[in-house]
Amino acid sequence: MKHAHHHDGEVVIQASDLSVSRGGTIVLDNINLTIRQGDFVALVGPNGSGKTTLVMAILGLLQPTKGTVEILGRDSKKMKFDGKIGWVSQAAANLPKNIRITVRELVTLGVLSTNSLIPFRGNKKDTQRRVDEALQIVGLQDVADVDIYRLSGGQRQRAVIGRALASNPEILVFDEPLVGVDRASRNSLLKLLDELCHKENKTLLMVSHDLPAIRQSAHRVIYLDLVHDNDCCSGGIHYDGPTDQFPDLVGLAALRGIRNVHEEVTPVVINPSPVVVYEGSKEEE
Ligand SMILES: Nc1ncnc2c1ncn2[C@@H]1O[C@H](COP(=O)(O)OP(=O)(O)O)[C@@H](O)[C@H]1O
Ligand SMILES: [Mg+2]
Repeated sequence: MKHAHHHDGEVVIQASDLSVSRGGTIVLDNINLTIRQGDFVALVGPNGSGKTTLVMAILGLLQPTKGTVEILGRDSKKMKFDGKIGWVSQAAANLPKNIRITVRELVTLGVLSTNSLIPFRGNKKDTQRRVDEALQIVGLQDVADVDIYRLSGGQRQRAVIGRALASNPEILVFDEPLVGVDRASRNSLLKLLDELCHKENKTLLMVSHDLPAIRQSAHRVIYLDLVHDNDCCSGGIHYDGPTDQFPDLVGLAALRGIRNVHEEVTPVVINPSPVVVYEGSKEEE
């Protein structure tokens, strides 16, 4: 269920005049965005528009060429995650098949990676409790001691979300969490994300191609696409607003500009079903 956009929450992510280059090319140019506590923001845009780059810059994993990112009022580069941010990277659920660990062990890694920054004081009970809580939230208590390779795609996605939740972060960042997840799991995953937002008061930033899922869950959509200049183009925000005012396909075409001057820009593909798919989502499956 979708709820009203939180206008009054505390600012948790603030990107100001943010520009990021990769491989010598400007990928994002002058991004400004404010995300408040309790927001459920979907980040959408064609393949290569810079969604992952934006997420990584927000997390302080990529050095901006210009501008700043503040998370919870602090420079994100100096933040070192310290457990306040849970990140599920793109394709995080594609865990190596030769690693044999249980669901519980995987989720425990989410606690250990935080604690490893601090001298370990043998607080095993606390770790155990957090892991149990995370397992419960993602609904994997019953398979806690099962090897991850035996899980379904949807369960694996839950497991990596569980790992991100284990440090009880305030902000959750998911990069394409719905790719490769079957329909039934997809709906329960969306319900889980919705609950994290509305019951646990987490702030969610989710990169996704799945517009129906976004319409079902997010309060707000940020649409990234290339900004066309005379001789150069880089990613910029073309829409930032409530999900229910996010344009339909006709409006989207207008947002994207009249011409597609760059071959690498993938056109929006219209499916017979009311699903909007950018071609990029295929490669990631
Ligand atoms: N490691 C890299 N080195 C150089 N260019 C990169 C790298 N990663 C991504 N890019 C380029 O940055 C642009 C944005 O990529 P990305 O942020 O992954 O887009 P999205 O997540 O929206 O598909 C693309 O043109 C891509 O080719
Ligand atoms: Mg990406």
